[in-house]
Amino acid sequence: MIHYPRTQLAEELVVALQGKAVFSDAHNGLFLAAPRRTGKSTFLQADLMPALERAGVVVVYADLWADQRRDPGALIAEVIGRALQPHLGVIAKAAKKAGLEKISLAGWLQIDTSRIGKLDGVPLVEALRALSETADAPIALIIDEAQHALTSEAGENAMAALKSARDQLNRPGAIKLMLVMSGSDRDKLLRLVNTTGAPFYGSQIQRMPELGQDFIAHIGGLIESQRPELKPVDNAALFEAFQGFGYRPQFFMEALGLVLSPLSGIGGRFEQAMLVAAQQRQRDDEAQMESDYLGLKPLERAVLWRMLEQGPRFRPYDAEALKFYREQTRTSVSAQKAQNALESLRQHVPALVWKSARGEYAVDDAAMHRWYEKRLNEGSWPPADSQIDLDFEGQQSP
Ligand SMILES: Nc1ncnc2c1ncn2[C@@H]1O[C@H](COP(=O)(O)OP(=O)(O)O)[C@@H](O)[C@H]1O
Ligand SMILES: [Mg+2]
Repeated sequence: MIHYPRTQLAEELVVALQGKAVFSDAHNGLFLAAPRRTGKSTFLQADLMPALERAGVVVVYADLWADQRRDPGALIAEVIGRALQPHLGVIAKAAKKAGLEKISLAGWLQIDTSRIGKLDGVPLVEALRALSETADAPIALIIDEAQHALTSEAGENAMAALKSARDQLNRPGAIKLMLVMSGSDRDKLLRLVNTTGAPFYGSQIQRMPELGQDFIAHIGGLIESQRPELKPVDNAALFEAFQGFGYRPQFFMEALGLVLSPLSGIGGRFEQAMLVAAQQRQRDDEAQMESDYLGLKPLERAVLWRMLEQGPRFRPYDAEALKFYREQTRTSVSAQKAQNALESLRQHVPALVWKSARGEYAVDDAAMHRWYEKRLNEGSWPPADSQIDLDFEGQQSP
């Protein structure tokens, strides 16, 4: 597996997080959004974390998506506790040697790291202060798929606590707590920053840059060195293919492995085969969304359609929405029925709908919005059940 390092981007962000970049607000929290599978988690863990550590920062990383059954608030508290534990161990040892009273940090020793953030435990703010003091270093807390925190009350509270920790620990010129939040969906991440009650009201969301031409040039170079007979590699065509794969390195690399394989049976240039593979991938992605959509009940379709159409303005039960559902399904639709439909969209595998603890709904995968827009522009919305397909399915099922 090839990892293309993104050191320069990581180092620029470290400077910004330290509050040293002139026109940046990153020291108040860095919010990064980019579509799924474009390399966010990889960048955060393999590039940004080491760059922060090189700068003497203690890094704590939590992926709120890694274990969807766990409460996001508990996950955040847990990673902070886990980071704090070794430092407490060091103090405890020193205290034993020198006598407790001589150790200035001995006060922190009573912290039960398994109860951080719980009602009877140490609050998150104090745990972060303890970590910063016992480690004697600034802390960066990286929260991957941070929008997930908004799906539970404990998660919302954790976010509010992080903001207050930031305000208490940081002074201009002395940043002790850096916060990095990433998400696959800008609209959901926006809910952390764009309403007056939002935990990070006023912060900006930035688009995390995709892997670009330099990544492709790197891959092109690897191909040329391993397969000299393919020289010169057409990097422009490869980059076009990479864009066709939605800037998703994994799919791109898999396809590359296939077209470069001696078993591929491809006669012409592999770059052309990559362009074809990229188009096929797009068709497959779209076919998947179409079949997910067509597999829904009429009211579920109508609700999803309304969400796609309204985006952030979506209100599930207002009069306009209910009218829309009625028109689409040609049946009477109550708010309760609409709610049931929303719930089953949320329970769908894969989940089609996302819900916050405040009862706000959004399409789970932002790629669906792009699919919808595209079909709308082509005049092919909504997807229609094809009679032939139905017959075909009828023959297959027993
Ligand atoms: N810098 C990189 N170089 C090579 N491959 C990468 C790189 N970043 C990501 N990938 C590939 O893309 C896949 C998805 O990346 P990931 O970081 O999980 O995306 P995201 O967090 O945005 O969903 C990874 O499993 C890896 O195979
Ligand atoms: Mg990720």
